[in-house]
Amino acid sequence: MSVNKIVRKVTTHVLQEMKLHGDKIAMLTAYDFSMARIIDEAEIDVILVGDSASNVMAGYDTTLPITLDNMIYHAASVSRGVRRALVVVDLPFGTYQGNSREALASAIKIMKETGASAVKLEGGQQVAESIERILSAGIPVMGHLGLTPQSIHKFGTYVVRAREEDEARRLLEDARILEKLGCFAIVLEKIPAKLAEEVTGTLKIPVIGIGAGPGTDGQVLVIHDMLGINQEFSPRFLRRYHNLHDEILKAVGQYISDVRSKDFPNEKEQY
Ligand code: KIV
Repeated sequence: MSVNKIVRKVTTHVLQEMKLHGDKIAMLTAYDFSMARIIDEAEIDVILVGDSASNVMAGYDTTLPITLDNMIYHAASVSRGVRRALVVVDLPFGTYQGNSREALASAIKIMKETGASAVKLEGGQQVAESIERILSAGIPVMGHLGLTPQSIHKFGTYVVRAREEDEARRLLEDARILEKLGCFAIVLEKIPAKLAEEVTGTLKIPVIGIGAGPGTDGQVLVIHDMLGINQEFSPRFLRRYHNLHDEILKAVGQYISDVRSKDFPNEKEQY
């Protein structure tokens, strides 16, 4: 992309227009400057600085250990690489649940220190007060329902959520609550496609799915999963667009061999 090209920045309003026009929204995670710069150049609509950084960047088993300062470090790095996409940052576990004042303070810290445009948090009715307070400061909020990884110890498993009628009904109700509160979009994670389609048809705000079928207004994937950096994680919903794990292994293997055989550096690669 030419540096002089005029860029139309993606805003929450643009996403709303996209839903109205039936244009699908493409969202990916990123956690660092270099990756964010590439996917922004590719014209991704939304970049989520997800708390999945806890898994794919820091190597933890869950999203629970990542801190607000860790998220701010990742989000500020991402923002420096982005010209066009809307940057949304996950509020990490323990920074918004059960205390709306702390939720507001966490969201303000993210907005002040990262250059991002919105925050995302998990849950419905139970986090309504936190959402309301964050919104009252003019900070756009994206909701997240279905499989909410910050509650893994409550669920006990990462299996598909809301298969039963009761849970599906509650999810639809929560989605309505999030819209009514003023969320600009929601993520639906790992729920039946039919339910996701129903939620998408019910809400006026954009609904972005991950493992929620084709009936949502857009899709999101974790960049490490879709590029095949992460080999262990292979749920049914994941489409791998590359096998970077093997590509990196091959390139690094070649480098090691070149160093050991004294092929690198050659005459042209020195001063
Ligand atoms: O943290 C994350 O990457 C997410 C996506 C899976 C939606 O919340």
